[in-house]
This record gives sequence, structure tokens and C-alpha cells, in this order.
Amino acid sequence: KKRLGILISGRGSNMASLVEAAAAPDCPYTVALVASDKPEAAGLAWAAERGVPTFAQSPKGMPKAEYEAKIDAALRAAGVEAIALAGYMRLLSDDFVARWRGRIVNIHPSLLPKYKGLDTHARAIAAGDAEAGASVHIVTEELDGGEVLGQARVPILPGDTADSLAARVLAEEHKLYAKTLADWLRD
Ligand code: GAR
Repeated sequence: KKRLGILISGRGSNMASLVEAAAAPDCPYTVALVASDKPEAAGLAWAAERGVPTFAQSPKGMPKAEYEAKIDAALRAAGVEAIALAGYMRLLSDDFVARWRGRIVNIHPSLLPKYKGLDTHARAIAAGDAEAGASVHIVTEELDGGEVLGQARVPILPGDTADSLAARVLAEEHKLYAKTLADWLRD
């Protein structure tokens, strides 16, 4: 099985869906490490309780290159071969992306190429879109810009707020990420 590292910054519900999917015998990956830039991230405790190795490194008070070197070292020490970003809310440097070229994927809560960056659901509602969704894509130096591997779509309903839409999209994210990642790592 491929050894997967997952980077999170918070709740970690997408990470949890990947950890749960990894329990299936035919899943092509095993979660070798869950790492976070936020030591207090709820997802870290969730993973640790289930026996998944975890690593936390705050970037505070150090140059970005030093922070990323620590993350990189932890991933390599865990034998990680591919990285899934799951609500990791920090931009990776071009250097880091180059070192892991083609081996990092991200889940983004919009139908890319629409709404790169933040506040995707509010922007989709404000634009009067009929649907929203999520995309799993390869991470490149361009923010939310790499090849799209899979998407899930949901309707935007009358009266939707950014929160109600986010919840509808999130339920689809959990299914989309596990399936797309398995297909990608099986190739
Ligand atoms: C998810 O909706 C994910 O798509 C989004 O943050 C949420 C994390 O939730 N990611 C981004 O906005 C990336 N820029 P989770 O921690 O429960 O998986």
C-alpha cells in the first residue's frame, strides 16, 4: 500500500473520512502520518485516538523554510510517498511543491476553476450560481490551479447561506476525496 501523509489545520473531517476509507482491504493507501500547523487542531486528537501517528509544528517564530523543513522531515521519517491536503489552510512554498512534485493533492470547496481561494460558498451564492461543489486537484505552485482529478456537485437552494451550503458540500467532499484519492493512488 502507498504511504499517505495528510496535512490538516483544524476539524479534520476530510482527514477522518480518508482514515476510515483506509480500513477497507482494497484501499490502495495507508495513513502513515497526520500532520498539522496547529497543535490544537481537533483532527490531531481524533487521529491519535485511533492510533494514527501524528505530528504538530506551529510555524510561529520561525522562517517559513524552517517550518516546512520540519514538516518535510516528519513526512519522510514516516515513509510518506504522497500527501493529501485536507483543510490545510497554509500556502506551501514553491520549494516544497517542487520537492513533492506531482505527489500532493488538495480538496477545494468549489467547482474549480471557479472560486479559487477563500469564501467559496459565499461567492457562489452571491454570483447567483445554481450549483456548487468541491474539487480534488493536484497541487502546483499556482493556488488551487493544478489538474482536477475529480469533482462533486450539489444544488444551491433558495435561502442557502454560506454555512448551509458548506454543510451540503462537505458531505459530498467526504465521499469524493476518498474515492478520488484511491483511484489516483491505484494508477
Ligand atoms: C473543507 O471544506 C475543505 O474543502 C476546505 O476546508 C474545509 C476543511 O474541513 N478547504 C479549503 O478551503 C482549502 N483552501 P475539514 O477540516 O473538516 O476537512
